[in-house]
Amino acid sequence: MSEAAVSEKPTLLARNPLDMIASAHAVQVEMCDAMERIADGLPDEVDRRLCAQVASSLQFDLPLHHHDEEEGLFPLLRARARPEDAVDKILERLACEHDSDNDFASEIAEALETLGQGGRPANPEMLGYMLRGFFERYRRHVHWENQLVMPLARLRLTRDDLAQLAARMNENRRQAG
Ligand SMILES: [Fe+2]
Ligand SMILES: [Fe+2]
Repeated sequence: MSEAAVSEKPTLLARNPLDMIASAHAVQVEMCDAMERIADGLPDEVDRRLCAQVASSLQFDLPLHHHDEEEGLFPLLRARARPEDAVDKILERLACEHDSDNDFASEIAEALETLGQGGRPANPEMLGYMLRGFFERYRRHVHWENQLVMPLARLRLTRDDLAQLAARMNENRRQAG
């Protein structure tokens, strides 16, 4: 193996995967703010480029993040948590929310894509309603993950768990790419 290859490999795993998840959450909060701006501007005052950006985040980034959590973070945390952490119920609930959010996200993404391409929404009021429902719920979702799940993960996951999580996340990106 060349030296370049040796020095490239660790950089993939070098970042703490929990920091990657935390920065995804920060980006998601910005996405929710963007969705609020779009909803406020409907039907005529919409930033079409913003619509296209949000559509792409909803379609690609969000499902990938949910895979990272459901196949990586949540099972590792479930295995490592102590009984007094009482984390099973909250993880179950968060995974449930992923399912319905994925469905709404792809519906909203379709409408935003049309807007991004210069079209008009078929039903601006319905789209506004869906956007508001989504970003209000999703902000809450991220809030609970940041308040409950992330601090516990930082406390409980071992170095080996983190390596497994990083590997899972890399694999998810390889499959998505
Ligand atoms: Fe989540
Ligand atoms: Fe999350």
